[in-house]
Amino acid sequence: MSDNTADTTDFGYRQVPTGDKKPLVRAVFESVAPRYDLMNDLMSLGVHRVWKRIFVTALDPRPGRRLLDLAGGTGDISFAWLARGGGPAILSDINPAMLAVGRDRALQRGIAADLSLAVMDAEKLPVPDRSVNRVSIAFGLRNCTDKQAVLAEARRVLKPGGRFFCLEFSRVNVAALRPIYDAWSFSVLPRLGQRIAGDADSYRYLAESIRTFPDQATLAGMLETAGLSRVTVQNLSGGIAAIHGGWRL
Ligand SMILES: C[S@@+](CC[C@H](N)C(=O)[O-])C[C@H]1O[C@@H](n2cnc3c(N)ncnc32)[C@H](O)[C@@H]1O
Repeated sequence: MSDNTADTTDFGYRQVPTGDKKPLVRAVFESVAPRYDLMNDLMSLGVHRVWKRIFVTALDPRPGRRLLDLAGGTGDISFAWLARGGGPAILSDINPAMLAVGRDRALQRGIAADLSLAVMDAEKLPVPDRSVNRVSIAFGLRNCTDKQAVLAEARRVLKPGGRFFCLEFSRVNVAALRPIYDAWSFSVLPRLGQRIAGDADSYRYLAESIRTFPDQATLAGMLETAGLSRVTVQNLSGGIAAIHGGWRL
């Protein structure tokens, strides 16, 4: 984990003034938005779909349950929640370019009922206290500046008995996987990014931001610090990704 101070924070491997991270992250996702879904499939060889399916199973969609999907981007989690019988979903993201792709995808799929879209900063949610049953964030927390604030906000908006789930890249815990994964992240990804999206730097940021993100145990501690209870961690694909969950009791 990087040693952030109040004045600086990580942006990939670079330390940048804290106030600079949001515009830098915004530029990354504005650049990748039109090719985001294609790149996800190529970069993960489709595995992100399996992880997301497991994640939505953990969210346990049921009619009448209200989901707030943070950093929801182009909508995968919200769409799967609705397709699997969940109640109303709010697809939120700080970046209008990512949400615009999400809106177009929703229209193409004929999803309208029970879906609302909103520009929101996950660190400061314009959402009432105790108003939703589930809060999700998939591959989003890594990109936020004040991660502890996101977790505190998630707890604040959950109803008692509600649950928070985070899907994020994590620390590989199978030694044999590490060299292959490192080569893939630092050689293949930036090249793919250059070829497909014309942007190697954004995909280099992706690989670096994964390495500076808190590991499984550290993130579990952060959920507890935010006041979430019964915190659980589920490793996926040898820890390449992990699902953290916690309850608001
Ligand atoms: C890697 S994408 C994940 C999108 C989607 N959840 C998925 O799994 O495909 C990360 C998203 O985080 C969003 N993001 C970054 N900082 C944010 C913040 N402070 N609040 C809300 N969203 C943010 C970006 O705009 C981007 O859409």
